[in-house]
Amino acid sequence: MKNILITGGAGFIGSHVVRRFVTKYNNYHIYNLDALTYAGNLENLVDIEKASNYTFIKGDITDEVFISNLFQKHQFDGVIHLAAESHVDRSIEDPMAFVKTNVIGTVNLLNAARKLWENNYDGKRFYHVSTDEVYGSLGAEGLFTETTPYDPNSPYSASKASSDHFVRAYGETYGLPYVITNCSNNYGPNHFPEKLIPLFIHNIINNQSLPVYGDGNYTRDWLFVKDHAIAIDLVFHQGNNHETYNIGGFNEWKNIDLVKVLCQIMDTKLGRTPGKSAELITYVKDRPGHDLRYAIDANKINLELGWSPTVTFEQGLQITIDWYLENQDWLNNVTSGEYAAYYKKQYL
Ligand code: NAD
Ligand code: DAU
Repeated sequence: MKNILITGGAGFIGSHVVRRFVTKYNNYHIYNLDALTYAGNLENLVDIEKASNYTFIKGDITDEVFISNLFQKHQFDGVIHLAAESHVDRSIEDPMAFVKTNVIGTVNLLNAARKLWENNYDGKRFYHVSTDEVYGSLGAEGLFTETTPYDPNSPYSASKASSDHFVRAYGETYGLPYVITNCSNNYGPNHFPEKLIPLFIHNIINNQSLPVYGDGNYTRDWLFVKDHAIAIDLVFHQGNNHETYNIGGFNEWKNIDLVKVLCQIMDTKLGRTPGKSAELITYVKDRPGHDLRYAIDANKINLELGWSPTVTFEQGLQITIDWYLENQDWLNNVTSGEYAAYYKKQYL
């Protein structure tokens, strides 16, 4: 039996990773460590919460002593680190929260892993889940590869870039066995409705305006969250130490085109006159430092580990929209309270 720590497992991507590992690997005990910030939600994991190889631990990765003790207590063999502050707009409002969790929290985990493993790294692995935003912005052409220089533009991406550098530095300096993946925009069930796709699904359902930043011609590369979880599983088990792998959907969309498709599908699902939901589109003030375009070259993970997306964007959007329509209690629960104040400040 191996003890695996997954951080941020109550969040969007983390919950899909936890579910995959708990249900697939009986020889692992999965410890899900999450501070349950506004973005963490144990409702995401009700189906597996009673599994005998699963334990939830509420705790904060910025708490150095707590993290050190936790590693000593459970003797983790591997770490999959997803806990983070993840929303660009919030990082513009409060950069320090991103420095604390994304940088200091990551270094706390690195120190605890290094201390526990005491330079005997056999069978150990520290997996750091990162983002394509560390590479900055592309122009109209080109793709991010694993050798694209880091050039982060938002406090969020700067904090993720910093954490990536620390992970690499621990590999170089102390020999810590690590892998890093840099993934493009995820979408799917359990996505907190502050991000583009779930926010717009929520607003269409509720006949609220759809706030498109700037001219809407910004481009993102979308990947279904379960395909990200599959890639994480593969890299955790078969990736080479001290390597980075880019993960992407081969699926670029300009925001405004994506929003129009979303509106069309929602019109059909909600029985609305075609064009009705698109009337909610409203162009609003742009995001400061807004990256024009992200697009991933995922050939390395494809060629070396045989990974490619299994779900098309058409399928993924249908699954996602159906999930939100069937889980409106989940949506209502997470959009009350603190989120209502955030929404008012950000959009109204
Ligand atoms: P999320 O915001 O949905 O979830 C983050 C989770 O981390 C939450 O459960 C939260 O409670 C927890 N958390 C936050 N601060 C914590 C702390 N101090 N201690 C312990 N737990 C804490 O994020 P997500 O979208 O699921 O992203 C997960 C990871 O994947 C992040 O590292 C993010 O940078 C990365 N990533 C996300 C995307 C994407 O499109 N969402 C793409 C590429 C990479
Ligand atoms: O690329 C990976 C990254 O993708 C992850 O690292 C981040 O954690 C994740 O939040 C996401 O970052 P983005 O900033 O690309 O995602 P977001 O959903 O916030 O925005 C997607 C695009 O939509 C972006 O161009 C901004 C735009 N947008 C977003 C919101 C919330 C709008 O036009 N209106 C909005 O209200």
